[in-house]
Amino acid sequence: MKKEKEGFLITIEGIDGSGKSTQSNLLAQFFKQKGISFVQSSEPTFGKWGKIIREQTAKGKLEAEEELNLFLKDRYEHTKNLILPSLEAGKIVLLDRYYFSSIAYQGARGIDLAKIRQLNEDFAPAPHLSFLLDISVEIAWERINQRGVHLDSFETIENLKKYREIFLSLTDKCIIKVDASLEKEKIQQIIQEKCLSRIYQLLKKN
Ligand code: TYD
Repeated sequence: MKKEKEGFLITIEGIDGSGKSTQSNLLAQFFKQKGISFVQSSEPTFGKWGKIIREQTAKGKLEAEEELNLFLKDRYEHTKNLILPSLEAGKIVLLDRYYFSSIAYQGARGIDLAKIRQLNEDFAPAPHLSFLLDISVEIAWERINQRGVHLDSFETIENLKKYREIFLSLTDKCIIKVDASLEKEKIQQIIQEKCLSRIYQLLKKN
């Protein structure tokens, strides 16, 4: 399904409590102010498969392979219906989580990391930039608990440690690790600077 891309794919990754949604929303605001054409989305999506994922994981019953398959189905639809058409139209696509999350989360459940990567890269375009918001598990845990919302089956301290470890082991060139314990304005400034310089580099090349 992968085709040549003209747009720019930016993803924000990190463990739960790392502040992804906040940074994604701030970056979207920035693009809006600058008049830059973009679409913002997240995974799991709010489509059919995303809904099934939320229902199932709230019950905490899925086998690891089954869970991986649901995320793959959700991502396949997302790629086909939104990500690729937007990239082909030359837009920036801004995603809160993408397939590095599958490598970290489903990898933590024991599935081979290279296999998860391959299954994803068979159809999903690689990001141009992926911001890994890195935070200690202790701070993340405090933030998650402060939210006072129901914790789904992904969220235990032990699990967060595993996800973080896998995220930090990824060596893809597109990944930029950002210290997520900094003030949110500072994190956003770092993200904006990297985005602008990378977009500028690409424009110069074309
Ligand atoms: P999250 O970003 O918390 O979304 P929301 O706030 O909308 O619930 O994602 C939900 C959970 O899904 C999160 O704990 C990580 C997990 N997840 C995976 O296990 N694999 C994946 O591929 C993705 C995208 C998410």
